[in-house]
Amino acid sequence: MTLATIIDCDPGHDDVMAILLGARTTDLRAITTVHGNASLEQTTRNARQTVEFAGLTHIPIAAGMAAPLVQAPSYAPEAHGVTGLDGPTLAPPTVPLVPQHAVDYLLAQSRQIADLTLVPVGPLTNIAAALKQDPGFAGRVKQMSIMGGSLTFGNRTPAAEFNIWADPDAAQVVFRSGIPIKLVGLNVTLQVVASPTIRAHIRSLPSTTARHVADILEFYSTQPGNSGAMHDPLAVAALIDPSILTFEPMYVTVETHGSITRGMTLCDGRHLGPDFRALRHRVRGETPNAEVAVAVDAARFWELFLDVLATYP
Ligand code: RIB
Ligand code: CA
Repeated sequence: MTLATIIDCDPGHDDVMAILLGARTTDLRAITTVHGNASLEQTTRNARQTVEFAGLTHIPIAAGMAAPLVQAPSYAPEAHGVTGLDGPTLAPPTVPLVPQHAVDYLLAQSRQIADLTLVPVGPLTNIAAALKQDPGFAGRVKQMSIMGGSLTFGNRTPAAEFNIWADPDAAQVVFRSGIPIKLVGLNVTLQVVASPTIRAHIRSLPSTTARHVADILEFYSTQPGNSGAMHDPLAVAALIDPSILTFEPMYVTVETHGSITRGMTLCDGRHLGPDFRALRHRVRGETPNAEVAVAVDAARFWELFLDVLATYP
């Protein structure tokens, strides 16, 4: 059965890959945009340009929150350029936006779509704002596959991954929502990068979409400090091919006050460790609130992604 999804994103080079993968492998009902890699204006422009170059203009786009719940917005030009999607030459967007704010649109869609799956791959501000506006939203969302956090270390700081770091207060609201969560963090996504060989193969494909993807990945993979990691499409892959990612149940909480660890996802996997039996009498583990990705089959992901990319004009 094809999942009904909404991708909440901050395009973002890898967000674009999530949209391309999600549009072909799920029933992608909408794209909602949020501040993150760049300003809301830019991430929304980038989402519009994406659906236009890929021939996906039938998918509605709604713009969401321009700033985090509490802190000021902070972008990632060092990774994605000042536009949030530096690299390709794309036509100015013409596709109109949904007139509703993305938060209102998410709430409305959750009332219309019986089994809604959310794929948040940017800061979680839109999702948290929807939960705050209508707590009943949690009961209307079947599951979320989130790109964010890490079992090991961060990328925006040694402790924090960018999506969570950009709005840790929103992330905490989401992890406490009770909605079933798959969490795809840096500990697996950094293992899946667009190598020069993969980029050359994509550039050899006879389609306009592939040419734009090649330009996008060239910038994203060669910017100093960038790895070309396929963070966001892995959150889609987690939903459609269980052989790609391995998950373990853990209690995940977010550091929202730490002066050096703000935005860190603390994932309690002690029950999985060999020495848990020795700790059992001392460890009060919270009930797991997420399935956390612990391993990835990078080759299987690329097989899926390249097969899907070959279907685009
Ligand atoms: O840390 C990686 C995440 O931050 C990805 O979603 C990327 O697009 C950026 O938003
Ligand atoms: Ca993103």
